[in-house]
Amino acid sequence: MPIEKKATLLIKNIGQLITMAGDVPRIGRSMSDLGLIENGGIAVAGDEILAVGVSDEVQGHAPLAEGCSVIDAKGMVVTPGFIDPHTHPVFSMTREKEFEMRVQGKSYMEIAQSGGGIRASVRDLRTTSTEILMERTKDRLDRFLAHGVTTIEAKSGYGLSTESELKQLRIIDDLNQLHAIDMVPTFLGAHEVPDEYRDDREEYIDLLINEMIPAVVRDNLAEFSDIFCEEDVYDIDESRRIQQAARSAGLDLKFHADELKSTGGAELAASLNARSADHLVYVSERGIKALAASKTAAVLLPGTTFSLGGKQYAPARKMIEEGVIVALSTDCNPGSSYSESLPVIISLAALQMKMIAAEAISAVTVNAAYAVGREKKIGQLTQNYQADITIWNMSDYRELPYHYGVNLAARVIKKGKVVVDR
Ligand code: NIG
Ligand code: FE
Repeated sequence: MPIEKKATLLIKNIGQLITMAGDVPRIGRSMSDLGLIENGGIAVAGDEILAVGVSDEVQGHAPLAEGCSVIDAKGMVVTPGFIDPHTHPVFSMTREKEFEMRVQGKSYMEIAQSGGGIRASVRDLRTTSTEILMERTKDRLDRFLAHGVTTIEAKSGYGLSTESELKQLRIIDDLNQLHAIDMVPTFLGAHEVPDEYRDDREEYIDLLINEMIPAVVRDNLAEFSDIFCEEDVYDIDESRRIQQAARSAGLDLKFHADELKSTGGAELAASLNARSADHLVYVSERGIKALAASKTAAVLLPGTTFSLGGKQYAPARKMIEEGVIVALSTDCNPGSSYSESLPVIISLAALQMKMIAAEAISAVTVNAAYAVGREKKIGQLTQNYQADITIWNMSDYRELPYHYGVNLAARVIKKGKVVVDR
């Protein structure tokens, strides 16, 4: 006889329980479907969801284990723990001076070409101890968690040598064991061409393909390979070569595509059947069509446009209407977008990209789970999914974009345990 599971945690009196049960990923109109239960309840057994429904019924049906914790949500909103599908969290030096230079009129690319930008972060990371990097990264993970995020994708890309890329990926791996947040690791050795290869980029590409990617795969340190496909960084042909090598080595693909200019990155990502194409501020009409016809998700990062002081945001409405899978992310990094707050991103998505609250919530739960390849385990509050849950201090989910710039995550539960209680 199967052993009956008992609830170890019960959350009752949830004003709006957003389960996200339904289509995965959410496309077009289905993005507005939250699987919402009024006056809901959730029973958790260990690290998994046991039952979800109307509060009284869940309470009546789920047998409680001895010592079961009970949380009275007092009419608040509950969502799946948010998922941030694009972050660069491992760095020590921050770049507020560059932010101020941009405020005074310099562009991101001008600063990068004069030796700042990613290459400045690389010089710093290479000479910073693992201990300090771990400490700084852990602070960021704490902030993500405090803002209701329970899983992030985490990229390397500030090492740009075999040794320093592995150093970053090992930090991600170690923190994954130590910290409540889950990280999905991505190798981003093609984030830039490092200083020492500026006159021989072919040699660096050779190193990427023949040494770095094999080392990352050998040590099982990444699930994805990403690349900064952009004019003056890696062009379309180089991006194709590098990413094909990564795919052959066993990594799934992500792209920084059409972020600062339209180069055909979206089309390339779709043609290689990448898991996601990210940024897409300058995606072409053809790029949107290619994404819509593919299984590649579009991860949109309005915090980057905001923090770069840009006027043009990714054409989210057009993409949703055409049937592209849309997710949202912070792009948390020291250069173009320094924030661990997905709620702020949701406000920007509303105001600048005209995404309503329900669409944005789909974009940071089911669709974000899809963008990191975890859609069978997280992003929904349904039976047998991981018990990653955020309780928000609000009575209507539409407060999320509207009440901006403050942290309304009241409690965060990761794998069935309360990890934030404010
Ligand atoms: O997503 N575009 C490339 N990578 C980051 C910026 C990284 C940095 O400036 O340090 C981005 O915008
Ligand atoms: Fe990025």
